Amino acid sequence: MSEMNLQALLQRVNSTQIAPGNPRVRALTERIVTDLFKTIDELDVSADEFWTAVDWLGRLGAAGQLGLITAGLGFDRLLDIRADEADQRAGRQGGTPRAIEGPLYVAGAPTATYEVRVDEGAPKGEVFVMEGQVRDLQGQPVPGALIDVWHANEQGGYSHFFPGMQPYELRRRIQADAQGRYRLRSYLPPGYSIPPNSPTSELFEALGRHGHRPAHIHFLVVAPGLRTLTTQVNIPGDTYIDDDFAFATRDGLVIELERGVAPAGYESLGIEAPFVRSRFDFVLTPALNDSEASPLARIARITA
Ligand SMILES: [Fe+2]
Repeated sequence: MSEMNLQALLQRVNSTQIAPGNPRVRALTERIVTDLFKTIDELDVSADEFWTAVDWLGRLGAAGQLGLITAGLGFDRLLDIRADEADQRAGRQGGTPRAIEGPLYVAGAPTATYEVRVDEGAPKGEVFVMEGQVRDLQGQPVPGALIDVWHANEQGGYSHFFPGMQPYELRRRIQADAQGRYRLRSYLPPGYSIPPNSPTSELFEALGRHGHRPAHIHFLVVAPGLRTLTTQVNIPGDTYIDDDFAFATRDGLVIELERGVAPAGYESLGIEAPFVRSRFDFVLTPALNDSEASPLARIARITA
């Protein structure tokens, strides 16, 4: 009995099995395949449309842009929303809001204690210092907290992904001092856009959407016993601050800038002229288990 209609085929795809397999993977695959069968049937997807999509997915993966599409279609923010909702249900409140990691974190950045210059050489934007303290929910400093910081260059590129940049350019790790304090010097990065003429831009053109992200700086903050914080801060004044391609802007994460700050006290960061400063404290919440305090970023977590 090899002739089948859609329902019979779907039933066989979802039920065929020679070993227990992984029940969770089986359940998720069944749901996704069922939804796609339904989509193909109800929207009358042609064979050419289907194979165009398959070809696009292959090119998307080969271009290393899967992590761009997940952000651009809202999945990264969705996971944060669901994590926030789970916290709310569990009565877990406070702390610096989480924000999406994005696909461009690289582990192993050069580490410094208390203060660091993130950029090198002549500034490629307004000279910027961000400083503050890592605290817990009781307001106590978190000595030795590790703060990974990474941001785009003046052309919107990230080292290790953008041609012509040095390894770990615009990536540093700061170990907070005994009072939990940190400070970093860099330049204010601009916003950036998805790569043109890429699988990602093809989809966004077809959707009639722009692919711009407002200016932002990424952070990963880790300390023993405290929940790892992945977040990013937005630089105020950006055209796309409320229209982010990745839907990542959040209340409480748009920093305030003080312009024309006198350089006294900032000589150790090589600052000799008025600059832009922002004060920002990271507030960490208790970790309920080792996994929540994991020092690893997202891809390292799942491959560890
Ligand atoms: Fe980014």
